[in-house]
Amino acid sequence: MENRIVVIGSLNMDLVACAPRIPIVGETIVGHTYFSAPGGKGANQALAAARLGGQVGMVGRVGSDDFGRQMRANLKQAGCDVSRLLEVPACNSGIAVIFVADDGPNSIIVVPGANGRLSPEDVRAEAEYLGHPTVVMLQLENPMPAVLEAAHLGRRLGALVILDPAPAQRVPEELFELVDLWTPNEAEAATLSGLPPSRLDSRLALLVAQKLRGRGAKSVIMKLGDEGCLLVEKGESQHLPAVKVNAVDTTAAGDVFNGALAVAISEGQELAAACAFANQAAGLSVTKRGAQAGAPTRDELSAFTAPLG
Ligand code: ATP
Ligand code: RIB
Repeated sequence: MENRIVVIGSLNMDLVACAPRIPIVGETIVGHTYFSAPGGKGANQALAAARLGGQVGMVGRVGSDDFGRQMRANLKQAGCDVSRLLEVPACNSGIAVIFVADDGPNSIIVVPGANGRLSPEDVRAEAEYLGHPTVVMLQLENPMPAVLEAAHLGRRLGALVILDPAPAQRVPEELFELVDLWTPNEAEAATLSGLPPSRLDSRLALLVAQKLRGRGAKSVIMKLGDEGCLLVEKGESQHLPAVKVNAVDTTAAGDVFNGALAVAISEGQELAAACAFANQAAGLSVTKRGAQAGAPTRDELSAFTAPLG
C-alpha cells in the first residue's frame, strides 16, 4: 500500500467530567457534564489521520473488556486497519480520567492497562505487517522499551519516524538518533531538556528546540497551543500561527495536529506546509468537545475558514 501511515501506540477510554474550572488539590467541585468516549494518544492520532484521508494501520493493545471492543470498533469505523490491535486476556483497557474546564484547559490521569503490556517482542513481530510505511507515528503511553523498538523498526523499514513525546518525561539518549521529527508541546519540550515543565515564550521555545537539536533531534515542531507551532529544521526556524477560534475543549488538539501532519507528509508536502495544514485541523478540532469528536474530515477542513491568530 502506498503512502501508508502506521501508528504504534495507545488506546484509552476517556472518562470526561466538565466543570466551570479544574479543582485544586484537596477540593471537590460540582461539574455539569460527563461522558465517556474513545481516546488515547495513539488512537486519537490514528483516527485523525484516517478522517483526513490517510491510509492508516494501528498496532496496539486493548483489554478483554467492553471498552476494548468499543475502541476497536470505533477505529475500524473511522477507516483504520485494526487487524494488529490485539486483546490482552485478563487485562483492563487503558483509561484516562479527564477534567475539562469551561474555558478549554484540561487535566488528565492515565491508567495504562493493556497499553502497558506492549513489549519490544510484540513490536518486532509486526515487521511484516508494517511493510514499507511512509510514516511511523509514536507517543509515550506505551512502555519505553516498546517505543524504542518501534523507532528502530520504523528506521529500518525506511519510514519517517515521528515521536510525540507525550506525556512529558525524560527519554533515553538513543531515541534522539532514531526519531526524524519530534513534536513536543511546551511542557514536554521543557521536560526533555531538563527544565521544569512550564509555558515557554517563543524566544525560549526556540532555545529549547535548539537544545533538542543539539542532542541529535533532526527536526522539531514545538506545539504552542493557541499560538500555533514553531518548526525548527536544518538550523532554520519558522513560526506558523494557529487559527483564531472559540476553543471549547483542547483535549487531543496535539493528537489531531500530529494526525494531520502525518497525512500532509505522506502526501509529499514540505514540513512548513504540513504544519500549516496541521494548525488548521487542530484549530478546528478544539471547537468541539471530546478527544476524537472534533477531528475533522477532509471535506470539513476544506470548508473551514478562520483568520490566523
Ligand atoms: P493536547 O495534549 O491537549 O493534545 P498539546 O498540548 O500537545 O495538546 P497544544 O500545543 O495545546 O498541544 O495544541 C496543539 C495544536 O492545536 C496547536 O499547535 C494549534 O495548532 C492547535 N490549538 C490548540 N489550542 C488552540 C486554540 N485555543 N486555538 C487554535 N488552535 C489551537
Ligand atoms: O492527548 C489526549 C489523550 O491523552 C486523551 O484522549 C487521553 O486518553 C490521554 O491519553
